[in-house]
Amino acid sequence: MKVTISVIKADVGGLVGHHVVPEELEETAWAILEEAKDELLFDFDVSHVGDDLILIMTHDKGEDSEEIHGLAWNVFQEAAEVAKEMGLYGAGQDLLKNAFSGNIRGMGPGVAEMTIEERPSEPIIVFGADKTEAGAWNLPLYRMFADPFNTAGLIIDPHLHMGFRFEVWDLIDHKKVIMSTSEEMYDLLALIGSPGRFAIKRVFPKPGHLINENEPVAVASTERLYEEAGRYVGKDDPVMVVRAQHGLPAVGEVMEPFAFPHLVEGWMRGSHWGPLMPVSVRDAKPTRFDGPPRVIALGYQLKNGMLIGPEDMFDDPSFDRARQIANEIADYMRRHGPFEPHRVSFHDLEYTTMPAVLDKLKDRFEPL
Ligand code: F6R
Ligand code: MG
Ligand code: MG
Repeated sequence: MKVTISVIKADVGGLVGHHVVPEELEETAWAILEEAKDELLFDFDVSHVGDDLILIMTHDKGEDSEEIHGLAWNVFQEAAEVAKEMGLYGAGQDLLKNAFSGNIRGMGPGVAEMTIEERPSEPIIVFGADKTEAGAWNLPLYRMFADPFNTAGLIIDPHLHMGFRFEVWDLIDHKKVIMSTSEEMYDLLALIGSPGRFAIKRVFPKPGHLINENEPVAVASTERLYEEAGRYVGKDDPVMVVRAQHGLPAVGEVMEPFAFPHLVEGWMRGSHWGPLMPVSVRDAKPTRFDGPPRVIALGYQLKNGMLIGPEDMFDDPSFDRARQIANEIADYMRRHGPFEPHRVSFHDLEYTTMPAVLDKLKDRFEPL
């Protein structure tokens, strides 16, 4: 059976600044999606990470469906209305346009969609991150699908041993390239090691895999909010869907990269590098210096389009140490205050106050 999984997220208002999505917004989303079930959707779930509301929908309308995107837009608009009534902070923040015109891409929300032929048993993990950007998935995706020090299956299981194909997007020049591992590992790393510029959009199996080579096995949102808005609104706060097991990384191999809280761009005012801390949904509430950046993982078994779950995958003491390390890194990075490399590069601050500071001083600068 063919199923499309659409994960669409937006920040439509936070309880106490950019802290967390309150229950009222999730309830609003739930009520609207419940009505759309049977008619439009096979199934759905609603969750959040920090101030980002996440809609997880399954259906047979395909990717970029006007009906599904319109439904998500409607949910976000209604939730933004509730946020406004409650006086929540940044109500409607990510909804950049007034009228929906057929596709939610480019309108503010983040989108990760894949259409698959559902396997007899289809484990999927939905990830959501707050206070960071799309490229934050580069390191974990590489480790899941290309690094044998993370994924034992790349050595042991013949279907993983074949390697995978990575669709990489150039987020500045708006073009894409497909690269094959293990042959092109070093070239791939040359690109994705710059996560502010290049982001992995999808991962595909190779011909001869148990899964058709044209079906994604992972997909990430790559929207760049400041580019869509033309100014800094908030960070992209990306989502991602990863399929697991039976010729793909095992669930534990999908989770393993997050045992290392790697540094990502975002955090306070979207302008600071900090560790990505894996947390349970309960703890997905960035507080310290509006962070540190968080990631949640929701595990489902997909059956006949129905979502069985979620399992709160980081609600596990085996990630306590990653959280502790993330706190130590947070202390270390914070002590740099406004200095790089805690603060993002000069170039990356061009969208903020930096031009104004330079402009103010322009007449006082003297040639050397
Ligand atoms: C980061 C984020 C926050 C805000 C910060 C200032 O993605 O959303 O760190 O940038 O709280 O917010 P404003 O400018 O709305 O007061
Ligand atoms: Mg916000
Ligand atoms: Mg957010």
